[in-house]
Amino acid sequence: MSRLVVISNRVPMPEKNGTAPAGGLAVALQAALEERGGVWMGWSGKSSGTRDPAPLALTERGNITYALTDLTKTDVEEYYHGFANRVLWPICHYRLDLAEYGRKEMAGYFRVNRFFAHRVAPLIQKDDILWIHDYHLIPLAAELRQMGFTNKIGFFLHIPWPPADVLFAMPVHEEIMRGLTHYDLVGFQTDHDLENFRGCLVREGYGNAIGDGLFSSHGRTFKGGFYSIGIETAAFAEFAKKAASSVLVRKARQSMEDRDLIIGVDRLDYSKGITQRIDAYESFVSRNPAHHGKVTYLQITPKSRSEVPEYEAMQRTVAEQAGRVNGVLGTVDWVPIRYINRSIGRPVLAGLYRLAKVGLVTPLRDGMNLVAKEFVAAQDPEDPGVLVLSRFAGAARELKGALLVNPYDIEGTGNAIARALTMGQEERIQRWRGMMDHLLVKDVQHWCDAFLEDLTTDQKKKRGLRQR
Ligand code: G6P
Repeated sequence: MSRLVVISNRVPMPEKNGTAPAGGLAVALQAALEERGGVWMGWSGKSSGTRDPAPLALTERGNITYALTDLTKTDVEEYYHGFANRVLWPICHYRLDLAEYGRKEMAGYFRVNRFFAHRVAPLIQKDDILWIHDYHLIPLAAELRQMGFTNKIGFFLHIPWPPADVLFAMPVHEEIMRGLTHYDLVGFQTDHDLENFRGCLVREGYGNAIGDGLFSSHGRTFKGGFYSIGIETAAFAEFAKKAASSVLVRKARQSMEDRDLIIGVDRLDYSKGITQRIDAYESFVSRNPAHHGKVTYLQITPKSRSEVPEYEAMQRTVAEQAGRVNGVLGTVDWVPIRYINRSIGRPVLAGLYRLAKVGLVTPLRDGMNLVAKEFVAAQDPEDPGVLVLSRFAGAARELKGALLVNPYDIEGTGNAIARALTMGQEERIQRWRGMMDHLLVKDVQHWCDAFLEDLTTDQKKKRGLRQR
């Protein structure tokens, strides 16, 4: 089998104690790569005044070779904070109002992609399969093709792909669309994202859909498909079972005096709908006096991309909001919301998911959302909790046993919280079983295998891409 070379902006090295790093892309890719081995190239997370001329330093961990590069401060400012996180991220999450487009940042984005191509080039062997991840590196295949690489190159987008009218508001949408046509396979999370991509490609004449999951553009043919990313379901279930009885989790539980636990875990990001969720909880508490003093809503929200102004502002907004709700609704012996603004280790999270009666995953827009899947996997089969899930998360296309909500409908989401807390055991088990069976089959290895099979299989031998 050919060697796999994965390239992504974020490459968190596993912790010394072997625990997996946080963040959807990192956790899933780590799991996928551990099984098959390969090279993983990306940004070290460090920046300096000038570019490092030395070849990439390689670090072996198990059967993965990590190759990390530093970036300059200007690179990070323009490519990562600037274009990736202030243009592509909001646009892909349908937030035209938050996109701050600037030519300097756009130039920085393409410059850093060229730099990535030159950094990874010496590592690439003739038969390697290259798999590039996420919105930071869309133009990378075009750069590598220009350097003469003819390897199979696949791209997977972890975040949503917007409809044409949203994408076309971005001044450089043509360059971004053209960048995608240099891959052999472009993968999205859901059928909706793929549909949106098809619309963008065809409407502006950047390419044609020629059937069987194939597209053509400027004499090149490439595939498009959707591959819903999964988790290590069986392993995570086992992990959560053990974690729930750990001293730390028991202590946390005791401190909540066995109140019904409602949990939300998200990076501090406007796409996650955290303020709407707190409003929904407030609406639920205000309208359900019977639950006063009987529930604890634990919102764990690690800081994220704090250099980007929108994220920095959110830090204040959410903290103030949680404080206000506690001030208004709390009593001397009851704090309705516990808000934690830093990251918590995965073992504790897994244990808390298992102990929670309700998991709140209510993004305004999300590519997939692996917290939703981990929450399901962590449950006790005899007494599972209920997932309240936004219909705008990719995971809602699969997790039909969740209570699906529209996060913009504050009262509706509040009602779903009440329904989840009072749902009978039989219904909870039935809803959970269906979701768990699905997640056991469509786990992260399934996602990885399905993508790589479609990337490497000759389309002539295989008519049409299957639904993954
Ligand atoms: C999302 C993106 C990833 C990113 C992660 C954390 O899941 O799809 O590409 O790594 O957020 O964000 P950060 O900016 O810290 O890498």
